[in-house]
Amino acid sequence: MNLKGRDIISAKDLTREEVEFLIKEAEKYRNILKSRKPIFKADDKVAITVFLEPSTRTRLSFQFAGTYLGIKVLDFGASEISSIQKGETFEDTMTMVDGYEPDVIILRQSVAGNAEKAAKICAAPVINAGDGINEHPTQALTDVYTLYRIFGHLDGLHIGIMGDLKYGRTVKSLSLMLDKFRDIKLYYISPPSLKVRDDILNGIKNAEYEFAERVEDVADKLDALYVTRVQKERFSDPSEYEKVKGSYKITRDMLLKLKKIPYILHPLPRVDELATDVDSMPQAKYFEQAKNGMFIRIALLKNVLGIEE
Ligand code: CP
Repeated sequence: MNLKGRDIISAKDLTREEVEFLIKEAEKYRNILKSRKPIFKADDKVAITVFLEPSTRTRLSFQFAGTYLGIKVLDFGASEISSIQKGETFEDTMTMVDGYEPDVIILRQSVAGNAEKAAKICAAPVINAGDGINEHPTQALTDVYTLYRIFGHLDGLHIGIMGDLKYGRTVKSLSLMLDKFRDIKLYYISPPSLKVRDDILNGIKNAEYEFAERVEDVADKLDALYVTRVQKERFSDPSEYEKVKGSYKITRDMLLKLKKIPYILHPLPRVDELATDVDSMPQAKYFEQAKNGMFIRIALLKNVLGIEE
């Protein structure tokens, strides 16, 4: 597989074979890392994380991934202390970052399509760490890696995707990522005002899908339920957010009433859509999922940087 120098902007940028290869690589480096030693000494490589929107998991897991790979990892810092505050444009900011010649740029920002724009501006490969409501491909890699670790395969899975399907970028990337596999069925579960967008459905070429408003109506068909929060920051009208906030919630009591309890995934952060009393249930996989993100990002960074073993 040759991922060296590639931009990763969309889940569509990877083939099924490349996703399977990255999962194998993640498993390999997970085992090597048990010795607590850096996997490589690639200190001639420099990555920069440019996070112009808040993040805990994606930013830190890339930074840890780089550290364990033995590369140098720089951080752009908060946009509040950058010259963006003086009115510098996104285009000029990315031109400047690229001008210092990093080997890879990991970018999160709020405008859908700006990751692709950055990839056109920059000579360094750009990894999209979330572009507004559009995509979050490395979260989708994390998600399918987690499903693979639970089930040992991805073909044939029936996955419920629940919550804010209108604004959640992980919903789009996960749908596109799962669509590479055979016999996938997706159940989109949401209140009517947060229904999955047409641009997501139009991207699905292989998977079957159906819609539901209540998880109880489809739960016994699910292998896993992927819960997402209402994306408060994407609502232009705060009164619209007030109308839907708290309109769905997964709790331990609710799960215990189901005939079959699916595994529970969540990209995190959670707010109030997933009760903390679920955390101790054996089906709760979301903190493992967040940790898996570091291993799959080690695999991705290593290959995009072309680090030799
Ligand atoms: N899942 C995810 O993208 O989390 P962060 O916003 O904390 O990076």
